[in-house]
Amino acid sequence: MRILILSMLIALSLANSPLEMLQSGESCDKNPSFNITSFIINPFPPGNSEQYAITFTGIFLSKETVHQIYIAQRKGTEKWHYTYQTVDKEYAKGTTETYNISLQAPAIKGPYTDQITLHRSDFSSLACWQYNYVI
Ligand SMILES: *[C@@H]1O[C@H](CO)[C@@H](O)[C@H](O)[C@H]1NC(C)=O
Ligand SMILES: *[C@@H]1O[C@H](CO)[C@@H](O)[C@H](O)[C@H]1NC(C)=O
Repeated sequence: MRILILSMLIALSLANSPLEMLQSGESCDKNPSFNITSFIINPFPPGNSEQYAITFTGIFLSKETVHQIYIAQRKGTEKWHYTYQTVDKEYAKGTTETYNISLQAPAIKGPYTDQITLHRSDFSSLACWQYNYVI
């Protein structure tokens, strides 16, 4: 019985770990209005030209209208390239939201940095998350 419980515990902890390992990156906004509490990239790191998914969750610390999500990407220290996803949604203070983004990884080998930022319609940003990977 004890062995059964122990192996169940091990199985549970093994089942949990892949998700935790997928949490990647860090906040790049010291004072965000949308506090990101979970940021999961699947798979991470993405393979060459591979389609990958980002799911991130956070809480609005103040009332906000999110106009767009910017996805900025750069290779090494080259210039940033931007793509956009329109949200156009108003949120009350204290709202929890999960955003989903689908991206294709670059086809050129090298070190990359991506920055995901949330923007108001006046272009100012209310959250920033950054992660690095190598293709
Ligand atoms: C933002 O989330 C982090 C992680 O959950 C937490 O430690 C921090 O206190 C939160 N900040 C605010 C201002 O709510
Ligand atoms: C993202 O996906 C989750 C799970 O399917 C869903 O609950 C959530 O509403 C989606 N987010 C947006 C902003 O559509």
